[in-house]
Amino acid sequence: MSTSKLTLSDPDSGRSVDLPVVRGTLGDPALDVAKINRDLGYFTFDPGFVSTCSTRSAITYIDGDKGVLLYRGYPIEQLAEQSNFLEIAYLLINGELPNPTQYHDFTEQVTHHTMIHESLKTFMNGFHYNAHPMAMMCGMVGSLAAFYHDSLDPDNPHHRMVTAIRLIAKMPTIAAACYKHMVGQPAVYPKNSLGYCSRFLDMMFSVPAEDYEVDPVAAKALDLLFILHADHEQNASTSTVRLVGSSGANPIACIAAGVAALWGPAHGGANEAVLEMLTEIGTKDQVGKAVARAKDKNDNFRLMGFGHRVYKNFDPRAKIISKMTHEVLNKLGIHDPLLEVAMALEEVALKDDYFVERKLYPNVDFYSGIIYKALNIPVEMFTVMFALGRTAGWIAHWLEQNAEGNVKIGRPRQIYTGSAHRDYVAMESR
Ligand code: ACO
Repeated sequence: MSTSKLTLSDPDSGRSVDLPVVRGTLGDPALDVAKINRDLGYFTFDPGFVSTCSTRSAITYIDGDKGVLLYRGYPIEQLAEQSNFLEIAYLLINGELPNPTQYHDFTEQVTHHTMIHESLKTFMNGFHYNAHPMAMMCGMVGSLAAFYHDSLDPDNPHHRMVTAIRLIAKMPTIAAACYKHMVGQPAVYPKNSLGYCSRFLDMMFSVPAEDYEVDPVAAKALDLLFILHADHEQNASTSTVRLVGSSGANPIACIAAGVAALWGPAHGGANEAVLEMLTEIGTKDQVGKAVARAKDKNDNFRLMGFGHRVYKNFDPRAKIISKMTHEVLNKLGIHDPLLEVAMALEEVALKDDYFVERKLYPNVDFYSGIIYKALNIPVEMFTVMFALGRTAGWIAHWLEQNAEGNVKIGRPRQIYTGSAHRDYVAMESR
């Protein structure tokens, strides 16, 4: 029989505490340390939350050693092959795959919330033309709260759901408007006759002066990338959404915080960094030098798109994307020399002792940038694309947190390393 508690004793004080074992359906059990300070006088110390579960969640499961990713129990490989992004968003939010009526209603609701308030355009015009789209996204997404102030009560189930729909519907409209601002073209209104990804591509690339037809290959590729980016349990941005949510902040503020957390190069910003790195490496014959730099502890350079906190095996999303990159480029008739650089880099790194010993494999971001590039999406927009897919996961986690009620505010402790008590010295005596 498996144990239900572990006992921790402090020989100095003679005190001990029982730590209940908490188990989920899958994965390693956890120790409930909530009473450890009260009963033993110690805190736990785990910078970066390497061994800490911050919540219970029924949304996504990762087995990092085996390279397994499940959304609501369904393997990512099956979902990538057979589903589509809006169905995945429904699944993440509601816990079950939709029946035809539920899917139709959900799609209709998302489709009819795609427009943004005209005043947001004025807000957008305040940004300098060369503002980074992620900077605009942080501000634009957060500003939505100003337009829907009457329906942001985290305790109201109707408010929660309508905000979830609004965010999934409006994020692509905002993202495309940021891009249009960047390139100095007029923002394009969403065409509700198009599907979710085709509508986004139309808002990105159509101009009033010309006819534009979305390439179904591009729309399908984008849909697949959104599926793969949709959720990844308690990653930095999702944990941020939950932490902000724990204070009772409105859902739009929480998602805006998620966008900000995603921006960093150690997280969603890596896809932009990967393309910059591949461009800098330039040709296959320079790959060895890049690998040597990545191994050099005196050099800050890391192989972007390699390594993951949880996966110590192939990231299953990277496997799907790697296959897809070849298919998409073939279908679109594109030959990109950066793909050759990426493949050579992967081959060298996977055989190198440094990467093998540390279990560093390509992650989801390693190949995604090459596909985005093939779809004509500029590098600065890559992390925005990630945010569009991840919105489904962020909102699913925020809904799960708030549906449970009695949310406990997230408030970690610290090891204080500053000065011990000292007395104030008057300025003339210093
Ligand atoms: N290149 C070279 N060395 C690396 C890399 C890399 N990409 N990643 C990790 N290492 C090395 C570290 O130097 C460290 O070596 P050491 O044990 O000799 O000190 C060891 O591997 C462990 O690395 P940590 O940084 O401790 O691992 P952590 O789990 O904290 O970081 C992270 C994970 C941030 C993803 C890291 O692997 C990294 O920086 N990768 C590059 C950026 C990237 O691709 N991020 C995207 C992640 S996926 C996502 O968010 C979508």
